[in-house]
Formats: sequence, structure tokens, C-alpha cells
Amino acid sequence: MLTMTNMIPVITIDGPSGAGKGTISQLVADQLSWHILDSGSLYRLTALAASWDNASIEDESILENIARELDVAFMPQDQRLRVVLRGKDVGEQIRAEEIGMKASKIAAMTGVRAALLKRQRAFASLPGLVADGRDMGTTVFPDAQLKIFMTASCEERAQRRYNQLKEKGIHANLAALVTDLKVRDEQDANRAVSPLKPADDAIMLDTTEMSIEQVTSKVLELAKQTFG
Ligand code: C5P
Repeated sequence: MLTMTNMIPVITIDGPSGAGKGTISQLVADQLSWHILDSGSLYRLTALAASWDNASIEDESILENIARELDVAFMPQDQRLRVVLRGKDVGEQIRAEEIGMKASKIAAMTGVRAALLKRQRAFASLPGLVADGRDMGTTVFPDAQLKIFMTASCEERAQRRYNQLKEKGIHANLAALVTDLKVRDEQDANRAVSPLKPADDAIMLDTTEMSIEQVTSKVLELAKQTFG
């Protein structure tokens, strides 16, 4: 069946935390002049809104409601997207490790995932979409024409995160980052609903030994083969 979603070119990039999905998705979207969906930001925004509301991180019905009502805007600025929650620019705030951990916890809730599903699908529009997350190829865009599952060793992913934080002048502890990534991977891979796993038709891409430029070229080459 030809649905609206499979008439729009979609590249899904899934994988564990810190595999470089965000950086690569942005570079590929820039090169193709396509839209981008950073689906993790929606879970992070839900976690942040919940903490603003002093909502319990265990209360699924309240969290589902917060996710459904999320007052968020992604505003283009200098070729990037400003993330504005309830009128406040929270682009930096949602990147905190603590918010990532909370996001991973609430992302295991069926109601929260259902509440965010339609919002994510609405990002698909012409000329095309690069969607980054954990279940883009399996659940959100199962009809996507190009699905990539991006991995890297845990140590390499922690090191990349460490360098990123250091660049921003944020203090970080490498050993703590390794532990956090392992906990988050474990939570994401073992949840009952939409767990982190490659779609059956995903192309596996281990980036441990690859540079950002090499990974970007590889994805662009795959995009060319798929979309012409
Ligand atoms: O990708 P990012 O690290 O920003 O995602 C934060 C958390 O949101 C992940 O650890 C994961 O639990 C959750 N997430 C998800 N499904 C997605 C994207 C993110 O469950 N598609």
C-alpha cells in the first residue's frame, strides 16, 4: 500500500547513546537539504517538563499527559534548530546527562511513546527526512527506504561524549560516562516497548574506527544508492 509516509524519502539512523547519530544526522540533513528529527529530544523535553512540574518520574499517566501536551517549537536559526519549551530556549539544558537518564526511564512507558508517535511522524515532509533515535526504523518509520543502525564500542562512545562536553567547557568524568552509557543502553535495549534494536532491513554501521567525515560520506553514498 502506498501511504503518505513512504512517498516521502526517509533515512532512519538508530543506535545506542553516543554512537554519533546526532552529529551525522545533522551533517547528512545539511548536505541533502532535508528535514531532521532528533527524536531523543522529545523524550528529553518530556523529562524536563516533568521536572518543571515536579511530576513523579514513576507516574505514567501524568507523564503521558505531559508528553501529549508538550508545548515545544523547533525554530531554525543559523542552520540549526533552537529548541523552545514553553517559550524558553532549552537546547543546552536538555543535553545534561541527568536529563538523558530520566528520558531513558520515561521512554520505557507505553503511554509516553504513544503520545509522542504522531508528533514524530509529522516531521516527515518533502524533500525528505533524516530521523535519529532508537526505534525510527522499527516503529516510527517502518516504511523508510534507508535504515541505518549505527554503533561504536562503549569506550569510544564515552570518549566522544567526554570530548564533546570538554569542548563546551563542561566538567566530565570518563569512567562515570562509561557507566551511564551502559545503564542507558541496558534500559533502552531491554524495555518491552520499542526496544533499541536494528530493524530487520537495517544496514549495520560500526563507527568505532571511523572519523565523522568517513561516516558522513558512507551515509551519503548509501543515500545516493537508495534515492538516486
Ligand atoms: O538520543 P538521546 O540520547 O537524546 O535520547 C535520550 C533517551 O530517549 C534515550 O536514552 C532513549 O531512552 C530515549 N529515546 C527513545 N526512543 C527514541 C529516541 C530516544 O526511547 N527514538
